[in-house]
Amino acid sequence: MNFELKPMGLAGASTEKCDALIVLVPQEFKAGKDDLSVLVARAIKSSDLDTKPGKLLPLYRPVQANAVRVVLVGIGSGSARDVRTAVVAAVASVKTASLKKLLVCFAAPAREEAVRAVVTAVADATYVYTHTKSKPEGRSLSKVLVAATNATEVQASFDRAAGIVDGAELAKEWANRPANHATPTLLGKAAQELAKLPKISCEVLGPKEVAKLGMGSFMAVAQGSDEPLRFIVLHYNGAAKTQAPTVLVGKGITFDSGGISIKPAPEMDEMKFDMSGAASVLGTFRALAALKPAINVVGLIAACENLINGQAVKPGDVVTSMSGQTIEILNTDAEGRLVLCDALTYAERFKPTAVVDIATLTGACVIALGGVRSGLFSTQDALANALFAAGDAAQDLCWRMPLDEDYAEALKTSFADVANVGGRAGGSITAAKFLQRFAEKFPWAHLDIAGTAWKSGAAKGATGRPVGLLVEFLLGQARNT
Ligand code: BES
Ligand code: MN
Ligand code: ZN
Repeated sequence: MNFELKPMGLAGASTEKCDALIVLVPQEFKAGKDDLSVLVARAIKSSDLDTKPGKLLPLYRPVQANAVRVVLVGIGSGSARDVRTAVVAAVASVKTASLKKLLVCFAAPAREEAVRAVVTAVADATYVYTHTKSKPEGRSLSKVLVAATNATEVQASFDRAAGIVDGAELAKEWANRPANHATPTLLGKAAQELAKLPKISCEVLGPKEVAKLGMGSFMAVAQGSDEPLRFIVLHYNGAAKTQAPTVLVGKGITFDSGGISIKPAPEMDEMKFDMSGAASVLGTFRALAALKPAINVVGLIAACENLINGQAVKPGDVVTSMSGQTIEILNTDAEGRLVLCDALTYAERFKPTAVVDIATLTGACVIALGGVRSGLFSTQDALANALFAAGDAAQDLCWRMPLDEDYAEALKTSFADVANVGGRAGGSITAAKFLQRFAEKFPWAHLDIAGTAWKSGAAKGATGRPVGLLVEFLLGQARNT
């Protein structure tokens, strides 16, 4: 989908030929002299248009515009949230198979956060999954014009949002694909595709190379499946080689059955989304290629299935991680931390300024924070604050969780250096405490996206989160160096 920002107000928008025109009307709307402005002012005065966020007044071929469908929509205060609500409602009301060119016009000077919200909301409201449909009916919309009188002021925010949308859609696409269409091998190929983009390179390791590295914990998870594992290493080189990179680590469990500690049948299909962390790393690299910030970034993805064949790892088995620490696998369903810990150890070789892992790690995080905010854990306040602020800026929210040493008590065992599970209490925190043992050599943060990476129910599907947060965070790193 092609996004373009135009310096134009309601007068200009009224002459632009398009399939649909959405006019965003704030509560403090002041009418100009042009016909469309007068129409909006009249509609407000007569109470036919309410400026509360999401309230619609649909029109058909009004003489005041050159569009087939026009919808006036309230955006209340004009905050990112209000604009999002408005755009989602307005797009739903004009979405038809013939909607190819859409114009979204601000009826008052646009705030940066509002412009970003328009771009991301239009993309979200029109995304269609087609990969495994026999008669794909994809997105008809191909061109989105956003009009604002103060376009030059908000151009940078607009470009950033368009880059994030590109990345988030790649993340959605891979997360949505069923496990038999998104195997570790196919994820490796997707990463190699990304390496065709400017400044990106990629290396994909298989079982032999991973064994040589001594990733005994990652291998223990993969050994229960006939599908071979992949360890993906992506590089984005936007700065001098001498500049230390930021490393992103994605959990890439392409299907999580739980292993011998098998999951219950209901909703088990949703465990195809257990590679959403990996998908967010792929998406972030796509956005980096578009936005070209002056930083270096390494992306690591540990990809395998968590299944149950005759070789599957058993509860009580003890394995040796790449770090040398031994792990007692008390629950084979706590596999995410087992693949991530070896990837974290691998990250040491890059002497990174920071490492951020992204994982659909615990059901406990869904209970704690629901689907609104991702869980944020970090050993460094500056890093935690930067990620938190990036989440706010991108409207891809997170919330900091604790890492007190007392939580690590639950992972003690007589049979290895550490157990892979504590009790049910504080489950997302004990999982983070497990990871922390493998992240002592660099500033580290962990994002538990179990609640935010996808939606269940009627609107089942990947959200593309937290690509917005990650891209915003990395652009901030570029500004600081
Ligand atoms: N992938 C799951 C976490 C998950 C569960 C994400 C539900 C989203 C929705 C993870 O591998 C897992 O199974 N975690 C266990 C850990 C437990 C065994 C300590 C969990 O959360 O139940
Ligand atoms: Mn699991
Ligand atoms: Zn899992």
